[in-house]
Amino acid sequence: MQGVDCPPALTAALEESFGPHLKSVCERTARALAACGYSGLLVHSGSLVTVFEDDRSYAFEAHAPFKVWAPLGDVPDSFVWFEPGSSPRLLVHRPADYWHKPPDPPQGYWVRHFDVHLVGDYAAARAALPRSLAQAAYIGDGFAQLPAWGLKAVNPPALMRRLDYVRAAKTPYELVCLREANRLGARGHLAAREAFAGGGSEFEIELAFLRGCGLREQELPYNPIVALNAWGAVLHYQVLEKARPAARHSLLIDAGAEFAGYASDITRTYSHEDASFGRLIERMDRLQQALCAGVRAGVDWRDVHLRAHLLTGEVLRDADLISCGADEAVATGLTRVFLPHGIGHLLGLEVHDVGGFMASAEGGELPRPQLDPYLRLTRRLEERFVVTMEPGIYFIPQLLDAVRAGPVGRRINWPCVEGFMKFGGIRIEDDLAVTATGCENLTRDAFRALGAT
Ligand code: GLY
Ligand code: MN
Ligand code: MN
Repeated sequence: MQGVDCPPALTAALEESFGPHLKSVCERTARALAACGYSGLLVHSGSLVTVFEDDRSYAFEAHAPFKVWAPLGDVPDSFVWFEPGSSPRLLVHRPADYWHKPPDPPQGYWVRHFDVHLVGDYAAARAALPRSLAQAAYIGDGFAQLPAWGLKAVNPPALMRRLDYVRAAKTPYELVCLREANRLGARGHLAAREAFAGGGSEFEIELAFLRGCGLREQELPYNPIVALNAWGAVLHYQVLEKARPAARHSLLIDAGAEFAGYASDITRTYSHEDASFGRLIERMDRLQQALCAGVRAGVDWRDVHLRAHLLTGEVLRDADLISCGADEAVATGLTRVFLPHGIGHLLGLEVHDVGGFMASAEGGELPRPQLDPYLRLTRRLEERFVVTMEPGIYFIPQLLDAVRAGPVGRRINWPCVEGFMKFGGIRIEDDLAVTATGCENLTRDAFRALGAT
């Protein structure tokens, strides 16, 4: 789960901040358990999933409710047991196996905070837990022996939602991890940029990204989106074309790294020797920075999203892509043809982190604006929330064709749009840690520390 190097200052910061992080996880879990009527919590890391009719398994990803306790992303069928008032107990599944390498006994800055047991199978795990679990809750995958363990509830929604809600505000330890995930991601992006400049294929650019991060593909928080030319218009483009394209126009790369279970989510767009597309990227970069400058505790994310549409309308107008003003472009739905996704989301142990719509820890939902079904965050920002800021403009044939003949289409400057189709689109995405008066831009800081922009 770690990159190729771990600078001494990082090791020291992790050492210092993990204890308080765990204390805070214990305290909030104790409050949630008390509110929901449970005496303890058993959290499962997840089970391996096997390929249909084969004995191989898919790449394992530990569940986020487990990773919030311990930075162990690669230990299936392990558990954390927590009972308020006692140290958390970690049961690491370490089978006797000569087909695979069993996990090493855990090591590192966090281990001394746990009562660690190495268990060979489910029976050994059960034996390392209290005799009765009748008042305890369980979060994780089902498995054959689980009913016989006698837990009070399996994946109880009220408890899970309470624990999700508080994950939005990060502890200082989590911010250390997210900064490092950004540092690794920025290294990957710089390597990818160089591969693009050298004429690399999408696949070659991804390989450069992985090498730059020092991570395997399965260690990334999501599959990189590496889109050359018009493929930038496919929002979650999943192909990694191995052949170099006949002509090189642009690269949209949305790729993040992971550190200790925490994700970065970074997008950059580059023009290859086209001044007008280059100017549009610069304009979008300024727009993105203006949106970042408006982020601080207390701001309703739905307002940030609306402002993004207004600013996008201005960019479209300035670039002569549309013929009406920004207000009209927003009111008629025109900006949504060019920007059909949300302006950002919570980020943490999952790239699209949980709890984005919750009205309170007890429940209730904050609705999305009617025109924005893809917005993933509707909460008011609080200090130490980590969010992405990812405005974009795309030339998506399907969405453009849908409005071509109607009143919205009459406001589009079609020859200008046609001229940009070969570039696909632009997205610029940074990760922001919210403060009382503004935000820390984890991504730009990471690029700057590497001597880049
Ligand atoms: N990488 C997916 C997203 O930006 O939300
Ligand atoms: Mn994102
Ligand atoms: Mn992204």
